Amino acid sequence: MFCVELQKMIKLLMLLLLKQAVATGHNITFESPDLCALRGSSVQFRCLYSYPEQESVKETAWFKGELINDIWKRTRLSELPSFQDRFEYRGDLQHNCSLVLHSIHSVYLIVTGLNASVHPKRVRAGDHVTLECKTKCQLPVVWFKDGQTVTKSTFQAQAEDAGKYSCAIEGHESVQSDPVVMNVWYSPLNVSVEQSGSGLLSAGSSLNLTCDSAANPAADNYTWYRRSASDSGPLIQVGSGQVLSFSSFSASDTGSYICRARNSLGENVSSGVQMKLEEANYNLFIVLGLGLTVIILFFLPLIIIWAWRRRQCNSAAPEENHSHDYENFFYPKH
Ligand SMILES: *[C@@H]1O[C@H](CO)[C@@H](O)[C@H](O)[C@H]1NC(C)=O
Ligand SMILES: *[C@@H]1O[C@H](CO)[C@@H](O)[C@H](O)[C@H]1NC(C)=O
Ligand SMILES: *[C@@H]1O[C@H](CO)[C@@H](O)[C@H](O)[C@H]1NC(C)=O
Ligand SMILES: *[C@@H]1O[C@H](CO)[C@@H](O)[C@H](O)[C@H]1NC(C)=O
Repeated sequence: MFCVELQKMIKLLMLLLLKQAVATGHNITFESPDLCALRGSSVQFRCLYSYPEQESVKETAWFKGELINDIWKRTRLSELPSFQDRFEYRGDLQHNCSLVLHSIHSVYLIVTGLNASVHPKRVRAGDHVTLECKTKCQLPVVWFKDGQTVTKSTFQAQAEDAGKYSCAIEGHESVQSDPVVMNVWYSPLNVSVEQSGSGLLSAGSSLNLTCDSAANPAADNYTWYRRSASDSGPLIQVGSGQVLSFSSFSASDTGSYICRARNSLGENVSSGVQMKLEEANYNLFIVLGLGLTVIILFFLPLIIIWAWRRRQCNSAAPEENHSHDYENFFYPKH
């Protein structure tokens, strides 16, 4: 926010009425020539004047000037209706000629007056970053990252902080500085192993293991390790390159695979990925076999007992009938 109109005005229009008007050694200086003002606010023009020692000041006044036909026409502020009750002389008759203007009407936004920068220039993950917004005015600024408001202008950089940053004067967010790109450099993160195809693996099948990672610059050096089936076994280097290919996976390839990704800043490893031959079916057979065995061992005796008892009952019942018949048969004999 930079009030050009006022600045020009003051540089051109101030005039001191000294006791002896025509003089050498008369000088006026503005302490803060870069003035900033928000609409409706007040602004102070700090001003000092000097004159030969033998002179004394009788009166001071501020004027507004207009260039008409190459001639400056000046009018006292006190005589201008638009400045009525809006200006206040804060100076004196010694050396101070400061002026305060209230209720600023015109406000000029100078976009080039906002300049965003990031420190340090080259940011690594973990670095303390400061966003700097240079303005011609001492006014509070706000920050945007990729269009979204940023709450802090100093922070510890992380990979996710990379983006385009721009600043604006608070309350005037529609006028933003040119964006500045912040790139964050970091060693590999989130290293993971991706297996091609379905999860099940049978002997002789071909497959690829791919190593993925987030890194800036991108990882360019990959190393593959295998730990044999027993977890405590040694790590064996089995290959390099982002993809580890198996044309024919065999039992000797089983184990836990780990990928190490590396860029110019450092390295990181994935967690182990178990690669084993299709044991799912094998297990199913075991479960089925065990199940069948349990069924047979547990139910077979029951079935045998049931069958035996049933046979007993079947043979007993007719005997009873028969004995009855016999009884009936033999009763008359007695
Ligand atoms: C790493 O993974 C985490 C969790 O999935 C995610 O939030 C983060 O953004 C990833 N980091 C990078 C640099 O991709
Ligand atoms: C390795 O990556 C993990 C996230 O995947 C991260 O938390 C850890 O700090 C990284 N280690 C190094 C040495 O960069
Ligand atoms: C493995 O990757 C190679 C290229 O690197 C590709 O030709 C092949 O088809 C892939 N194999 C599988 C099983 O995805
Ligand atoms: C990959 O990194 C290892 C060290 O971990 C190094 O010995 C090897 O030369 C690097 N390979 C390439 C292609 O840069």
